[in-house]
Amino acid sequence: MMKIDPNPHQLSVLVLHGPNLNLLGLREPGIYGVSTLAQIDTKLVELGRSLNTVVECLQSNHEGVLVDAIHNARDRQQGIVINAGAYTHTSVALRDAISAVQIPTVEVHLSNIYKREQFRHHSYLASIVVGQISGFGANSYYLGLQSLVAHLEDISKQ
Ligand code: DQA
Repeated sequence: MMKIDPNPHQLSVLVLHGPNLNLLGLREPGIYGVSTLAQIDTKLVELGRSLNTVVECLQSNHEGVLVDAIHNARDRQQGIVINAGAYTHTSVALRDAISAVQIPTVEVHLSNIYKREQFRHHSYLASIVVGQISGFGANSYYLGLQSLVAHLEDISKQ
């Protein structure tokens, strides 16, 4: 018998966390907040469910692992939310990976990177992503996911 997909419009989104974000909760809580990465990931998965979107989360301290995850998303996910951490300000490789796969991507930061040291003001990702959300603590991730899903729905109607 032919199987009918019960949820044909379900989206799939990859959430990528870069270096040092595994230490959230312990790491400079005055800047990054008290939520742990596990708590943020749980909320992202729940929020995704309410948006008919499967959310997969991955954290790595290694640039190449993040590049590989972006490449692998090509066959699996329609969108990416990324907090590249310090690689935001250094990584041409991450920028090139996102440009190469052409997957709509939203850049997020817990802190407002423009209020901080000068070296954080430049993002290698900003000019190739759909948009950037910076400064709302863990809410930056949730706003990022919501905005990305809305964007994916918009472009699927075009
Ligand atoms: C960050 C900001 C970066 O400058 C920093 O290196 C991080 C976290 C943020 O979420 O505010 O690791 O991306």
